Amino acid sequence: MKKIAVIGSINIDFFVEVDSSPKPGETKLGNSFFRGLGGKGANQAVAASRLGAEVSFFGSVGNDENGKYVIDTLRQEKVNTMFLNTTDTNTGVAFIEITHAENRIVVVSGANNYTNVSYIKNILREMLEHDIFVFQLEVPMETLEYLIPILHKEGKVIVVNPAPALYIRKELIDKINYLTPNEHEYRVVLKTAAEMDKVLSEFPNKLMITCGKKGVKFFDGKKIFHVPAYAVEAVDTTGAGDTFCGAFVTALADGKTLIECVSFGNKAAALSVLKKGAQKGMPYQEEIEHFYEKELSPDGEWHIQTN
Ligand code: RIB
Repeated sequence: MKKIAVIGSINIDFFVEVDSSPKPGETKLGNSFFRGLGGKGANQAVAASRLGAEVSFFGSVGNDENGKYVIDTLRQEKVNTMFLNTTDTNTGVAFIEITHAENRIVVVSGANNYTNVSYIKNILREMLEHDIFVFQLEVPMETLEYLIPILHKEGKVIVVNPAPALYIRKELIDKINYLTPNEHEYRVVLKTAAEMDKVLSEFPNKLMITCGKKGVKFFDGKKIFHVPAYAVEAVDTTGAGDTFCGAFVTALADGKTLIECVSFGNKAAALSVLKKGAQKGMPYQEEIEHFYEKELSPDGEWHIQTN
């Protein structure tokens, strides 16, 4: 299996469950509180590790209690933390409100801002011992600008989950192998107002648009594939996109075809929303096998859409 490097954010997530969001100036009583390891980078690393991938995490924490907690948790998840950067600022935090399975998230990046070019230069040699590189957009864009051209030149596989959505310039997009925005993000990332299918057709075998309950769409050069999601009763969708990416890159590392990678991502993402928290529901390999043999079935056949 190929080795995966995730270059991304790591946060401590503070969740509150509440029946409805308070309006400005209003105070509401919540139903429950819990915390957990989070950050899109750490979530994707954990999702891949649980599914059997060999994963190293490249990111930054603060020299504080939260930093110790997130490092310990990442280690328990069998993610390689050898290259982590410890800084004098606070570990990233995210405040997450869950209302009827939907979430609202505010992130204070803190140490994640130090996953920058000077840190990367220090560990570049070790980083290049990996095969598949996974990014999100919760670390400075300058890090992607610096690293992606180097990785591209080295012939590495580059996956970018562009969340939260920011514009990525065309020269960088050209060097990315797989881009996985959701149905809202792709418009910002590619600065386009065009119809989804038109945009997909411009990025064959590169652009995978995740559409939540509706599944994932991509163009293989001849036709648009729509790989449906699995119908489940979600309790919390936090981390579902991260689980999709973690599973997608695990299947890539295992040499699967693109459609198999997307389908595996959908299976993992469907299971992830059955528990509260970004990582609680992320499945292990055995769970995927068990659930899909015995309990879940896709809500439709794969269908091919021709232009
Ligand atoms: O994608 C979910 C993640 O977004 C949370 O874990 C939170 O930390 C934010 O980064």
